[in-house]
Amino acid sequence: MFLNCCFLSICYIITHTDGSDDKNSAKFNVTLNASFKATQLEKVIGELEHNSTSTITVETEGLVEMSIHSESEPYTLSCQAEDMMSECSWSIRKESEEVVVWNGSTATVRCVHPSTSSTQATLSLSNPDRLWSGLYTCTLRSGRVLYKASGDLPIPLPPDLTLKSNPENLDCSSDAKQRIRVNCSVSPPSDVYNITLYVLSDKKTEVMSKDAVFTGDINCKDVADYLNTACEVTNNPDEKHFKTLTVPVITSTDDFCDSVSEWPRTKKGVTATRSCEPGRVGQKNRTCKGKHVWGPVENYCAREEIAKLLNKAENLAKGFGVTPERIREVFLDMKNFSDPKLEPTLGDVTSLINTLDYMKHVSKDFVIKSDSDMEHFIDASSSILSMHWSDDAHVNQSLSAKYLQAVEGLTQNIQVNQSTELNSTNLLFQLCPREPTCSRNLLGINVALISSAQQVKLMAIDRLTDWLPNDDATTVSCSDALVVVQENASREEDPGTKMTIEFPLTSERPQNHKIVCVYWQTSNNTWAREGCRWIHKNNTHALCECDRASLDRTGTARTRTFSTLMSRVPVELDGLNTITLVGLGASICSLIIFLAIECFLWKAVAKTKLSHFRHTALVNIATFLLLADCIFLASAVTEHLPEPFCLILAVAKHFFYLAMFFWMLCLSIVLLHQVIFIFQPLRAKVFFTLSATIGYICPLVTVGIAYVYYEVIPGSGDSSSYHNRETCWLTYKGSMKGSIYSFMVPVGVITLMNLFSMVVVIVTLLRPTFSESKTDDREMVKSIIKVIVILSPIFGVTWALGFGVFVTDLTDGPLWMIINYAFTITNTFQGFFILLTGCIGERKVREEFLKTVSLFVSSSYHLHSDLPDTLYLNASEFL
Ligand SMILES: *[C@@H]1O[C@H](CO)[C@@H](O)[C@H](O)[C@H]1NC(C)=O
Ligand SMILES: *[C@@H]1O[C@H](CO)[C@@H](O)[C@H](O)[C@H]1NC(C)=O
Ligand SMILES: *[C@@H]1O[C@H](CO)[C@@H](O)[C@H](O)[C@H]1NC(C)=O
Ligand SMILES: *[C@@H]1O[C@H](CO)[C@@H](O)[C@H](O)[C@H]1NC(C)=O
Ligand SMILES: *[C@@H]1O[C@H](CO)[C@@H](O)[C@H](O)[C@H]1NC(C)=O
Ligand SMILES: *[C@@H]1O[C@H](CO)[C@@H](O)[C@H](O)[C@H]1NC(C)=O
Ligand SMILES: *[C@@H]1O[C@H](CO)[C@@H](O)[C@H](O)[C@H]1NC(C)=O
Ligand SMILES: *[C@@H]1O[C@H](CO)[C@@H](O)[C@H](O)[C@H]1NC(C)=O
Ligand SMILES: *[C@@H]1O[C@H](CO)[C@@H](O)[C@H](O)[C@H]1NC(C)=O
Ligand SMILES: *[C@@H]1O[C@H](CO)[C@@H](O)[C@H](O)[C@H]1NC(C)=O
Repeated sequence: MFLNCCFLSICYIITHTDGSDDKNSAKFNVTLNASFKATQLEKVIGELEHNSTSTITVETEGLVEMSIHSESEPYTLSCQAEDMMSECSWSIRKESEEVVVWNGSTATVRCVHPSTSSTQATLSLSNPDRLWSGLYTCTLRSGRVLYKASGDLPIPLPPDLTLKSNPENLDCSSDAKQRIRVNCSVSPPSDVYNITLYVLSDKKTEVMSKDAVFTGDINCKDVADYLNTACEVTNNPDEKHFKTLTVPVITSTDDFCDSVSEWPRTKKGVTATRSCEPGRVGQKNRTCKGKHVWGPVENYCAREEIAKLLNKAENLAKGFGVTPERIREVFLDMKNFSDPKLEPTLGDVTSLINTLDYMKHVSKDFVIKSDSDMEHFIDASSSILSMHWSDDAHVNQSLSAKYLQAVEGLTQNIQVNQSTELNSTNLLFQLCPREPTCSRNLLGINVALISSAQQVKLMAIDRLTDWLPNDDATTVSCSDALVVVQENASREEDPGTKMTIEFPLTSERPQNHKIVCVYWQTSNNTWAREGCRWIHKNNTHALCECDRASLDRTGTARTRTFSTLMSRVPVELDGLNTITLVGLGASICSLIIFLAIECFLWKAVAKTKLSHFRHTALVNIATFLLLADCIFLASAVTEHLPEPFCLILAVAKHFFYLAMFFWMLCLSIVLLHQVIFIFQPLRAKVFFTLSATIGYICPLVTVGIAYVYYEVIPGSGDSSSYHNRETCWLTYKGSMKGSIYSFMVPVGVITLMNLFSMVVVIVTLLRPTFSESKTDDREMVKSIIKVIVILSPIFGVTWALGFGVFVTDLTDGPLWMIINYAFTITNTFQGFFILLTGCIGERKVREEFLKTVSLFVSSSYHLHSDLPDTLYLNASEFL
């Protein structure tokens, strides 16, 4: 076809058309030699189109000019047009393929308008590698007219050098000489280089070979711990490139690991590397950790297809070839290649996670708007979590941090439809399209927030919590899944109210263990807790309340990953330990004094039968309490006792405390008998038989049964656990589980019975026949208080507080604190109180004591009784 064409009053004949298949379209090459403005061209095209009723797109060359600056980095290419252009784009031709260049880690493309009638398209490249050398084309668009210009960018890059030695270690342990082969390879291969191999040492630099390969013997006398080699490549006289390699030398005094299968003999502390089997890319390395101790094999060999995928993603992240199609390809491949059934190696996992990371960078610069990409991304990410990563916790920690950061970023950047909901094995994705209250349940986690954001993206990630690094060694992750919350709203639009997240806990929260609500801080790779607080829900669920305003945000997008951590140890109240130590100390001293006084005054105080009973019981109580307190103190101040001692301590504590309680029971039975059967005094024989049985046999039998039940009979208790090896005390394993109940149940029963006795005594006191009519109400109250004060320590009723300690939790606030302090104070000072009430507070003992003392000092005291006289009727001898 020949066309007569008039253009800006210059007529040209189009001499040639290409043989396009499409009958309705034609392509023409027009060569113009004239000077005009682009807007004029556009006008003419518009008219042409109008007159011929066909669509015309025009590509021009030579109307814009490209300038290239390749002297220094960043390399910049720019195209200048003397007109207003609406679009600029860049591409690079590599091996007959035209590839789009977009913003990325290497490339930055800009379209700027220095004035109203000019446009400048620039491409700058920082740290470009070989990928970036090629023919560049800039395309500027103005309506239907594309203006193009092309230019070559040569990128001068130093050659890549690799230096290898065979063997990897020089074994000088027995022989005087060792054959070694050092090979320096240059890429891209070329013969314009001069290569020299050197041996370097502190003193001299010696040429090994004027060639890329050295094969020869090294004299072991000449080398110390390491043989340093270097490869020097010269491609022109003033440009030299170096590569050094340190070859470890195994001397006769060195520790080493013997060769095992493919791993050669390796010096201690050195990492040996092996190449991968065919079809895999990367390397395996294994460290010799000590004398004959190999570390685990770190298999960084990735499947070839995964390595290619990684490379593709890396190129995209650099800005090379960024198109929606290529992005889709990467996500799809990622989904297809991340099959946990293919037994992925650490290299596969690492490459896949790195791919995710690169895609996160791509999504920052390029708008990805695709539900299918999101779906593939979620499926792939879910599969990665089903894979076995590494046995090395540090490796898993850094991988999981990278993984989370990539997933957070992609979730934030990929744009999806309003109603998208994606489920995969380990990842769940849901959206709250613009609705004031967003409330969703993902993997059992309830998220609720009020937001004015366009949409709130929510994602729950399973399995990851165990791998993420936790700086705080006192806490441990306590939820299986974590939740990612992403909102897009500026601070003005949405100042941010509170948000609540309810996590199901991995295991029931033990008593007094604190839970911390945390969110992941990407910048620090740690959990942060500021702005979030734990609201007690129950022991199976933790409710977190996070203040969205105080969580920092970047720009308008906010993405946060929330989780919960539980402290490993129960919360301890301030000063409780000090109180315990002081109390035990005071009690031990008091009990020694008490026993000494009892001993000293035994004849005098144990004159009557009843008094004899009472003091027998008191002495037993005091003795057992003294022993128990001593052992308690011993186990409180020492940590990690060796095994038999710990068990002995546990058994002794168990027995002594129980014995004390059973003697208290004897005492209270005697009192009860005394109060109820006033005229039938207890016979001595009965008392001593009964008290010996209750006071010695009962605790012994209890301890014996508990020990046999929990420790000896397999499977009966809870996996052979009479005592806790850390606390050297009985075990608690949940409600009605653990040997602690062999202590708590008898103590509970005795405490209740003693309380009952106390009540009976008080009721007896209140009976008019018992109390003399003249006593008024105030006296009555006073005497009741006295009964309580006197009987409490020796009846052990303060131990009832122990049940309060057992059932309250730190979430009960002040009540819990009060009960804990009260329990600790009353029980650690129990011995001291026994001294006060049983000895100093007792008139008879005091009198006897002073009588005896006054014999020595020949002085006399006038004594007052502080106790109500009423008590000394009948039961009086007792108290
Ligand atoms: C137009 O020019 C281009 C580049 O010079 C050439 O590849 C193409 O074949 C030409 N088309 C026609 C129809 O001449
Ligand atoms: C274009 O025109 C100029 C003068 O008008 C002339 O010198 C030049 O050779 C021409 N170029 C071509 C390719 O015809
Ligand atoms: C289009 O047609 C109009 C009249 O119909 C004529 O004046 C004008 O020159 C034509 N334009 C071109 C580019 O042929
Ligand atoms: C690329 O990045 C630069 C600066 O970071 C920005 O000015 C430019 O608009 C970006 N280009 C595109 C196409 O997004
Ligand atoms: C040196 O190493 C390169 C790459 O590993 C290899 O291709 C080459 O054959 C080696 N040269 C010799 C002489 O072994
Ligand atoms: C390489 O070595 C040869 C001979 O020593 C020398 O002539 C030549 O200039 C060297 N080439 C370079 C690039 O240094
Ligand atoms: C182990 O392998 C990885 C992956 O190939 C590599 O990056 C790393 O440097 C190696 N470690 C050592 C100590 O050679
Ligand atoms: C995803 O799982 C949730 C429950 O976790 C369920 O309610 C929802 O219907 C599922 N959605 C799809 C698309 O399968
Ligand atoms: C990182 O952690 C340190 C303390 O661990 C803290 O002081 C710092 O503020 C944190 N950085 C950021 C960006 O929050
Ligand atoms: C704890 O709270 C959760 C959520 O409110 C509830 O489903 C669960 O039944 C509660 N558990 C107990 C033991 O009360």
